[in-house]
Amino acid sequence: VYAQRSVVICVGPGGVGKTTCAAALASTAAEQGRRVCVVTIDPSRRLAQALGVDGASDGSVVSVSTEGKGRLDALVLEAAHVLDEVVRACAKDEASARNVLQNPIYRVTAERLGGALEYAAMARLQMLHAEGRYDLVVLDTPPTANALHFLEAPARVRELADNQAARLLAGGSKLSGKILGLGVGVIVGAIQKISGGAFFSDLAQFFRDFAEVIAEFQRRAGDFEELMHSDETGIVLTTSPTEFSVREAAAFLEVLRERGLNLDAVVLNRFDPSLPPAPDLTPLGAVVDVPLDRVGEVYAHARAHGVRAAAARESLQARFPELPVWIAKRRDPPPEGLADLRELGRELFG
Ligand SMILES: Nc1ncnc2c1ncn2[C@@H]1O[C@H](COP(=O)(O)OP(=O)(O)OP(=O)(O)O)[C@@H](O)[C@H]1O
Ligand SMILES: [Mg+2]
Repeated sequence: VYAQRSVVICVGPGGVGKTTCAAALASTAAEQGRRVCVVTIDPSRRLAQALGVDGASDGSVVSVSTEGKGRLDALVLEAAHVLDEVVRACAKDEASARNVLQNPIYRVTAERLGGALEYAAMARLQMLHAEGRYDLVVLDTPPTANALHFLEAPARVRELADNQAARLLAGGSKLSGKILGLGVGVIVGAIQKISGGAFFSDLAQFFRDFAEVIAEFQRRAGDFEELMHSDETGIVLTTSPTEFSVREAAAFLEVLRERGLNLDAVVLNRFDPSLPPAPDLTPLGAVVDVPLDRVGEVYAHARAHGVRAAAARESLQARFPELPVWIAKRRDPPPEGLADLRELGRELFG
């Protein structure tokens, strides 16, 4: 699969292992000789250490490994800065980018802009892809409760660009209470942050500068959609091996299909092993002094997890017979270093 794709997007509900799987896939693809960049969001401390991206991110790509034929780079997207980078890339020149970024209204807007992180992640992905320095860019997605939010980012941006601010600028109509789709509360917040009379001149300037950026956002939103739907891009959905998660995943798969996106695989992560039914513990009691009831309970609990995982796998496979389902075992301790990630990646590819 990863010889064909140049973009892989790892989606899934919160906390299932998207970031870990993205890093694992990227490190294995690099090991197999490809030039890979993994773009992660909010990695755990240990994962960030493994990738060498621990500490404050300045938005630049770091080199993780150049062993073997391929190479692995990583980039951490931070919610606080990523939109700034996109603004820099979209502004017509440095001075106009600086104007936007330093405008107090931008700061308030950036904090409240719905879907800004999703949008910025897509934009950054596309910029990396367009640079052509990588064979494969693996994108982790933000911890949203609903993976669909991410796929909707380009459409959200189009709405943003189509909305009142743009019309206001074009038509010179009266200032509406809604600017950039933001409610009056945000405007009031901005007024409070900005000293007195500067507000209106800041606002006018902001619109002038930001209008260009938005126009460029809008142009690029079309490019993302095209990239997302092209054969270059594959989607990997990570989920937990439970009946509930499988139902959620199934609903998501239907949507992907409807939208014509390429689903490469579902990863059932933290998959518990199958255990045979508990043996008779009585002989054990004869040789060691342990509370047999307790041992039996612990065993039954572990076994139930395995049974649940196997059932989840079967029901997913029954519903989507064509779908590759990749199994990643639960690891104890959780995958930490680069070696663990590569091992996990090999397990997934196998
Ligand atoms: N196969 C595994 N076995 C054991 N632990 C795992 C496995 N995969 C991931 N974990 C652990 O699960 C936790 C969540 O993983 P991760 O951060 O990758 O999830 P995520 O989906 O990116 O979460 P979020 O939605 O918050 O971004 C981490 O502590 C990670 O180390
Ligand atoms: Mg994550």
